[in-house]
Amino acid sequence: MTDQQPAPNPHATADEVQAAFSDTKLAQVLYHDWEAETYDEKWHISFDERCIDYARDRFEAATGGENEKPYGRALELGCGTGFFLLNLLSAGVAETGSVTDLSPGMVKVALRNGEALGHQVDGRVADAETIPYEDDTFDLVVGHAVLHHIPDVEQSLREVLRVLKPGGRFVFAGEPTTIGDFYARWLGRLTWAATTNLTKLPFLADWRRPQAELDESSRAAALEAVVDIHTFDPDEMEAMAARAGAVNVEATTDEFTAAFLGWPVRTFEAAVPPEKLGFGWAGFAFGGWKKLSALDENVLRRVVPRKFFYNLAITGTKPE
Ligand SMILES: C[S@@+](CC[C@H](N)C(=O)[O-])C[C@H]1O[C@@H](n2cnc3c(N)ncnc32)[C@H](O)[C@@H]1O
Repeated sequence: MTDQQPAPNPHATADEVQAAFSDTKLAQVLYHDWEAETYDEKWHISFDERCIDYARDRFEAATGGENEKPYGRALELGCGTGFFLLNLLSAGVAETGSVTDLSPGMVKVALRNGEALGHQVDGRVADAETIPYEDDTFDLVVGHAVLHHIPDVEQSLREVLRVLKPGGRFVFAGEPTTIGDFYARWLGRLTWAATTNLTKLPFLADWRRPQAELDESSRAAALEAVVDIHTFDPDEMEAMAARAGAVNVEATTDEFTAAFLGWPVRTFEAAVPPEKLGFGWAGFAFGGWKKLSALDENVLRRVVPRKFFYNLAITGTKPE
């Protein structure tokens, strides 16, 4: 990061939080600066085989596995702690990378993670709607779980195509489909209500998190509703990428039954004291998710329309 980069602000004032409810970009910065240092732990993000395989699989599923590897220079938008690009660099998908995010706290953690992994990465604070790089700079632009936070997604895709070299590719994965988001939110709400009410019973008191922590989670969830702006329909997403100027556009989706397990599991984990969940739970959650993902991939994908799956990925290239 250069010296002029904004500093992280992990402790927002009450006034700033109030202002964020009517300013989505301020909300992004406050919310993600606040969670940057604990983000990897919260979302079980790591930079080992498990997440390298996950990132590579998502990338290959989006591109149909036809990659002239490795890409030279890659850019990540909304990098968070670097989950997607750093793991793709470890997988050998690209050689060097630039990590960018609207949140200074996230860029700081992503650069620290990149350095610890020994990758050649630089980074800066950047808004995906006005990407601060020259035209024709990158061979690959990636993002994971970022497009749904950007007010003008089509403008951002135009910017992606501007900074890509002719023939360069973009891959955005981990976006919520409209139908998937609907059932995921209901499953999350029901799990939260069931867990926080059942743990009021005296014999389950050990499983109840302190009220102050539960209140903080509820406040964070309220801000989450401000930062999560869009959900996507695969057909409409393809049309938008084509309007932005991309060719070879293709949307793919994954996780159907896996999302039916994944969202209640994540909500339950947030609602009970972490020390209550040991290795047995982690094995159940990850093992179950893997089995259901295989069922989705090998069986249900053939019969269930793609818009019913939870996760969407979109890829395309810049015309030569
Ligand atoms: C859900 S997090 C995903 C982080 C990371 N890609 C991952 O998968 O773990 C979304 C990230 O997008 C960033 N973001 C939100 N709006 C943005 C924008 N307009 N431009 C760039 N980044 C943005 C947030 O600060 C946050 O770090």
